Amino acid sequence: MTNKIPRQNIPSIPSYNYQPTPYIGISKQQVIELRKQYINPVVATYYKQPIMIVEGSMQYVFDETGKRYLDAFAGIATINVGHSHPHVVKAVQEQSAKLQHLTTLYLHPTIAEYSKMLVDKMPDDLSMVYLVNSGSEANDLAMLMARVYTENFDIITLRNGYHGMGGNTMGLTSQSTWKYSPPHNFGIHHALNADVYRGPWNNNENNVADKYADEIKNIIEYATCGKIAGFIAESIQGMGGAIVYPDGYLRKVSDYVHQAKGLLIIDEVQTGFCRTGKGFWGFELQDVKPDIVTLAKGIGNGLPLAAVVTTPEIAQAFTQKIHFNTFAGNPVSCAAGKAVLETIERENLQQNCSLVGDYLLEGLDNLQEKYECIGDVRGCGLMIGVDLVKNRETKEANSELASQIHEL
Ligand SMILES: Cc1ncc(COP(=O)(O)O)c(C=O)c1O
Repeated sequence: MTNKIPRQNIPSIPSYNYQPTPYIGISKQQVIELRKQYINPVVATYYKQPIMIVEGSMQYVFDETGKRYLDAFAGIATINVGHSHPHVVKAVQEQSAKLQHLTTLYLHPTIAEYSKMLVDKMPDDLSMVYLVNSGSEANDLAMLMARVYTENFDIITLRNGYHGMGGNTMGLTSQSTWKYSPPHNFGIHHALNADVYRGPWNNNENNVADKYADEIKNIIEYATCGKIAGFIAESIQGMGGAIVYPDGYLRKVSDYVHQAKGLLIIDEVQTGFCRTGKGFWGFELQDVKPDIVTLAKGIGNGLPLAAVVTTPEIAQAFTQKIHFNTFAGNPVSCAAGKAVLETIERENLQQNCSLVGDYLLEGLDNLQEKYECIGDVRGCGLMIGVDLVKNRETKEANSELASQIHEL
């Protein structure tokens, strides 16, 4: 076992038949200076020497010099059919040329056709779509829907989860890195995470899923009036490091939540659209049927599109007031959404994700046998986490090494 990763072992990327357009815009240095002068400094860049990306083609992106990079990050888990995929580009260009914006106050065929296509991918009674612009907005709306429908207030979520940075969703998000100090946790309870690597119970224990799920039951019993508006979790935690819950966990949680009259809200912002390879939606892995599902990121392959999908009954309860949103459901984003679903189907991307994911996991498992610093390899499809540690016993996170690898 070793802790050193030899630089010469880093493979080069395979050849690719694509010539990026010569870049003729302002220099990288000018971009850096303009950003420094005009963009809020909280808007960060990756890497000690930031990279400027000016073009993309499928799994690759190009900088201003034409240098090609493999985008293993998939545009922050968003480009799930490939950068500037021709089918998506064509759909967006054609729609843009015809009509770029239309509010939902008027009829348009694309939002109607798209909503049907989306619902066709969901379990039977998840048949009502509300389109929005971002994952944060979708989760904010899901919380509101759950509170309006149930007439209860408390929402339970998991520590280490990420659900966005809006005024309400920051309350759900449960990592201090993403939380500002003004109060934002009203009625939100953060349960012990079902983390079988770092949590108190691992997969070798008997009834591990029940033990973690009982934490939700305890919160309902001891921290709420006994009735809740809902429970929200990602199917696999993304920003928290690809945390996979023990089998059966969400099913048990779902029972407790429903007994307390709450709704099961599943955040599929990262796990949706085949990212896990084993199902079209991440919740299929846990064999649960959510009451509300939130979608974003890969839904529009980079265009601002997100959705809240729920049952007709919950949707109906929401009609007691007017709810409106200027850009949501605009024809261009919906055209992108349609093209994404068509591409997933045509190119058999779920199977591809499963295949490539299994291959990657196998390779990472082999590396884990070789390198002491790899404490855990976990995940499913292309939703994979490699947990780097200083010591396998203590499991202390090795963030220095993670930064080094990131910079390679
Ligand atoms: C699981 C999950 N939910 C919600 C969000 C928030 O989405 P957005 O950044 O589009 O607001 C994210 C973003 O990373 C996410 O990973």
